[in-house]
Amino acid sequence: MAPLKPTVLGGAVVLLSALAGANESGVPTFSHHSPPAYPAPIGHGNGLPGWSEAYSKAQAIVAQMTLAEKVNLTTGTGWQSEGCVGNTGSIPRLGLRGLCLQDSPLGIRLGLYSSAFPAGVTIASTWDEGLAYRRGFAMGMEHRGKGVDIQLGPVSGPLGLFPEGGRNWEGAGSDPHLSGNGLAAAVRGIQDAGVIACAKHYIANEQEHFRLPGENPIEIKESISSNVDDRTMHEVYAWPFADAVRAGVGAIMCSIEILTIRYGRYPMRCKQTAILPVHKAADKDKINNSYGCQNSELLNGILKNELGFQGFVLSDWQAQHGGVATALAGLDMTMPGDQKFLTHTSYWGGNLTVAVLNGSVPTWRLDDMATRIMASFYKVGRDKTQVDVNLNSWTKDVYGYQNFYAKENYRIVNGNVDVRGTHGQLIREIAAKGTVILKNKGSLPLGKPRQIAVFGSDATDNPRGPNSCDDRGCSDGTVAMGWGSGTANFPYLISPLTALQNRAYQDNSVIQWVVDDYATEHMDATARQADTCLVFVKADAGEGYLTVDGNNGDRNNLTLWANGEHVIKTVAGNCSNTIVTVHAPGPVLMEEWIDHPNVTAVLFAGLPGQESGNSIVDVLYGHVEPGRLPFTIAKSAEDYGVKLMYKPDNSYAPQQDFTSGLMIDYRHFDKQNIKPRFEFGFGLSYSNWTYKSITVRKTSAGPYTPFSGRTPAANSKNVTETPSDLLFPPGFHQVPGYIYPYLSSTTQYGLTGNGTNGPAEGYNPTGTPIRPAGGAPGGNPQLYDVLWQVNVTVANSGSRNGEEIVQLYVSQGEQDDPVRVLRGFRRVSVDAGGWTSVIFDITRRDVARWDVASQDWLVTAAKKKVYVGRSSRDLPLVADLD
Ligand SMILES: *[C@@H]1O[C@H](CO)[C@@H](O)[C@H](O)[C@H]1NC(C)=O
Ligand SMILES: *[C@@H]1O[C@H](CO)[C@@H](O)[C@H](O)[C@H]1NC(C)=O
Ligand SMILES: *[C@@H]1O[C@H](CO)[C@@H](O)[C@H](O)[C@H]1NC(C)=O
Ligand SMILES: *[C@@H]1O[C@H](CO)[C@@H](O)[C@H](O)[C@H]1NC(C)=O
Ligand SMILES: *[C@@H]1O[C@H](CO)[C@@H](O)[C@H](O)[C@H]1NC(C)=O
Ligand SMILES: *[C@@H]1O[C@H](CO)[C@@H](O)[C@H](O)[C@H]1NC(C)=O
Ligand SMILES: *[C@@H]1O[C@H](CO)[C@@H](O)[C@H](O)[C@H]1NC(C)=O
Ligand SMILES: *[C@@H]1O[C@H](CO)[C@@H](O)[C@H](O)[C@H]1NC(C)=O
Ligand SMILES: *[C@@H]1O[C@H](CO)[C@@H](O)[C@H](O)[C@H]1NC(C)=O
Ligand SMILES: *[C@@H]1O[C@H](CO)[C@@H](O)[C@H](O)[C@H]1NC(C)=O
Repeated sequence: MAPLKPTVLGGAVVLLSALAGANESGVPTFSHHSPPAYPAPIGHGNGLPGWSEAYSKAQAIVAQMTLAEKVNLTTGTGWQSEGCVGNTGSIPRLGLRGLCLQDSPLGIRLGLYSSAFPAGVTIASTWDEGLAYRRGFAMGMEHRGKGVDIQLGPVSGPLGLFPEGGRNWEGAGSDPHLSGNGLAAAVRGIQDAGVIACAKHYIANEQEHFRLPGENPIEIKESISSNVDDRTMHEVYAWPFADAVRAGVGAIMCSIEILTIRYGRYPMRCKQTAILPVHKAADKDKINNSYGCQNSELLNGILKNELGFQGFVLSDWQAQHGGVATALAGLDMTMPGDQKFLTHTSYWGGNLTVAVLNGSVPTWRLDDMATRIMASFYKVGRDKTQVDVNLNSWTKDVYGYQNFYAKENYRIVNGNVDVRGTHGQLIREIAAKGTVILKNKGSLPLGKPRQIAVFGSDATDNPRGPNSCDDRGCSDGTVAMGWGSGTANFPYLISPLTALQNRAYQDNSVIQWVVDDYATEHMDATARQADTCLVFVKADAGEGYLTVDGNNGDRNNLTLWANGEHVIKTVAGNCSNTIVTVHAPGPVLMEEWIDHPNVTAVLFAGLPGQESGNSIVDVLYGHVEPGRLPFTIAKSAEDYGVKLMYKPDNSYAPQQDFTSGLMIDYRHFDKQNIKPRFEFGFGLSYSNWTYKSITVRKTSAGPYTPFSGRTPAANSKNVTETPSDLLFPPGFHQVPGYIYPYLSSTTQYGLTGNGTNGPAEGYNPTGTPIRPAGGAPGGNPQLYDVLWQVNVTVANSGSRNGEEIVQLYVSQGEQDDPVRVLRGFRRVSVDAGGWTSVIFDITRRDVARWDVASQDWLVTAAKKKVYVGRSSRDLPLVADLD
């Protein structure tokens, strides 16, 4: 029994331990609650650019749909029932085929003739919004060509609280502004290509351990709970999602793990209704935590009300834990449809039909689910861009079973449409521009070395092939992607050694190599002969369902894999020009070798995708300007000040208290005055830059007015169908294992009524009051008012044409605020001797804090400053924001 330990953090008293005690049988009780937020706000397009036309079309088609047809839209047909990783039912009467949902955030998972794009960490390292858009558009076009309706990406959860976090690399950097910018650019790109983007994982999904019972060797009963305080929820974790919503994202995925809650301002009211199986919701009554996909405050409250999200919420795979509870809390689509993989039973499907018939779920809620899904469909133009699904996730064969689990419907399942276009060039550009030069004692860029020697297994091919491990669940050969569902098959993978040999051939350089990480003597001898020694080292991470070298998704440490430190030290001991390239999902510790006098250059090359080798050659030889770090590289793991939970604190539902609050990544180092090895935003350029001047202009923006208004009223209708209308149609062929919207009998679950049970709980004929911070997609529109314009001039004072990444930070001035937060950046290209001016807008949101008492954003009177420079700690220009 862990005692409660109140402590002062971020100006508010919060509880260090969520574990409040245990009942006599040892089942723990928890002190944190998530407040209730009902009823679900109704989606609408009223006056919203992009949404209003989409909503008119959606409302028109949903008005024609029967109960079973609407349920079909909301429910997956079951794991492996069809070709995509997620598939909804169809509506043949209205000419709508089932929707295809496909991973991943970096391409087409399990795809053929499709590209393997650089991972999120690498696009984030480019700090280039235009490039992020182009990557999104290219990925969207690939998904579109395969018939995918919803691409399951981009990612901003995990954000990267824990440097070891298994899926951080899927996301867009460990700062809310950087991540939100990347998320929004990807959303616009994907959706401009005519495919619905799905921002995920909502929310605070920061570690893999204990996300799902049964995935870890240590047994737990329920998923881990991320316990986040309200201010941190708004200023850190929800921030990027607000940007995605403002960019018009069509879908958001609620997370698999996480009974997310906030420190007990309210008790949680459990929504449970008889008849439907809501046993998980009943559990919640005991522990008063709430799973991400049935947390009404997160879905109805923050996302749909406050952030004004008009698209639909879909569950992560196996993240739904209740029927009525999830529907009323704001979930709109369940994936993959079955309760657990291949149970062939669903919380929704026929069960949702029953719930609507008996009034447990009001008709308006089902209408809203269907309308939100169809509105996103029309918003991105799926009615014009949709082609038949021509991919199959379960076989690479051309012919196979359309219904894989059932082994029915044998036909061509892989059309093998080549959707790659010229994306290889874009991939190479991103991977090069996202490579960060951390150290350069003048050895880069390379000229025409006489003799090159290449070291490390990370330089070369996996001997069993780039796609030999399912979902990249191994780290043999060069690491160009992490592992898990966020991956894609490589159409080819150019290793560093291949590309370096091609380059050496052009330059007439001699090139030798040792790619056995343990062949110390060979490394000694080979390094001694060369004038340029290129060492490739790696680390890897991924999703929790796969364990690689004992790493259960999350990394066990921040050191190198495959004997990396030893390889570097061996080579550096023999070669006075040792250049180290790191392929990794996030920070690695470098203290053992970074100051070695023979280590003349170090590059962080992230996870570059299929063009790995070509892109590193582009940077090493100086053809492309490098990027900057989207996270901090510390001197020791402890310096990050956070602890990923590797051992559960209780065997029921582990409790991860986010005690770091707002102080994620560099904010923690700044606040605690800890010197990192390489700070957030750091990276060397091939040229030299001078920050010359800064001017601040105050705009004439008016004061902030909290929003007031209501969402549209619920148009509650009685169900017109009777239970007998909802039986399987006569002669209907049921594909085995498939989830359907139909009832098998009219007495199912004691259902004897006729659907006229009247309005269910949560019925609200007058609509929902919109929160003060709400009012439009992204929140109160006045949050985005520009309060200041900042004009800085930056000169390229070097002798090379180059690219600089100009970064703007703001200090908000209160004692409990971070020292500085990133609020703007721009990648600029300036010729040698030239200069440019960069204009930044500072919005109200950029200087506001979340005020828990008023549940709104607030700009305090504290003195605010703006800083501009080349990293979070190298900020030559400073000015006041008056
Ligand atoms: C303790 O909690 C568990 C689970 O909620 C319940 O089954 C059990 O009856 C409780 N025991 C007591 C003595 O309250
Ligand atoms: C629901 O979807 C299934 C699978 O696509 C289809 O067989 C069935 O006809 C659909 N039902 C209705 C009512 O459209
Ligand atoms: C859960 O919340 C209910 C309703 O507020 C309350 O009565 C109950 O005591 C809470 N249970 C626990 C274990 O905190
Ligand atoms: C409805 O839910 C119950 C309880 O979880 C389950 O046993 C049943 O199979 C479900 N019905 C359908 C049609 O999936
Ligand atoms: C860190 O983990 C990697 C990968 O499992 C392993 O190769 C390495 O030996 C570990 N480092 C330490 C210091 O244990
Ligand atoms: C650096 O490399 C040279 C060989 O060029 C070697 O003699 C020297 O010992 C190395 N320095 C260190 C500190 O290992
Ligand atoms: C729904 O049916 C109930 C009971 O028959 C009736 O009282 C109510 O007026 C009906 N509501 C609507 C909106 O038609
Ligand atoms: C529906 O069922 C209720 C209760 O069983 C009954 O009173 C009512 O007349 C029925 N309505 C219709 C339209 O069948
Ligand atoms: C920004 O400053 C530069 C240099 O002083 C000036 O040339 C430019 O006109 C300014 N731009 C704006 C929009 O004020
Ligand atoms: C940048 O400045 C350094 C130090 O003055 C100088 O050695 C180097 O040549 C400059 N680089 C370029 C590209 O001008």
